[in-house]
Amino acid sequence: MTVKRFGVSIEEEALNKLDTFVHDNQFPNRSQAIRFLIENSYIGQKWQCNNEVAGAIVLLYDHHKHDLSNKAGDIQHEYHHLVISTQHIHLSHDLCLETIAVKGKAKDLTNLADQLISLKGVRHGKLVMSRT
Ligand code: NI
Repeated sequence: MTVKRFGVSIEEEALNKLDTFVHDNQFPNRSQAIRFLIENSYIGQKWQCNNEVAGAIVLLYDHHKHDLSNKAGDIQHEYHHLVISTQHIHLSHDLCLETIAVKGKAKDLTNLADQLISLKGVRHGKLVMSRT
């Protein structure tokens, strides 16, 4: 694969964020980090489609905060046609780990996952999908 070089102009603040990202994720340089970010956002777009897929949404949250258990439950009821099963693990006194198996159109699963992951107080959330 041919590697091309190009100049980039961005605000100092954005560059600082990039350097933090490079450091935190132990990329050898900025180029590798930018490559990773481009690749990831491209993969994200590919999933905004009508393909039938199956996957899982993983959520990690503190159930004491923001009535999260109820809110996450309400959203799953709204999208019950996409949810196959939900596993809720009480990780510790505060933390819950929820794994939600899902099946449906990629764009619908992405929408469902976005709503869950963006709930205030969710510490970590991720959707993984695969063509069926
Ligand atoms: Ni719990």
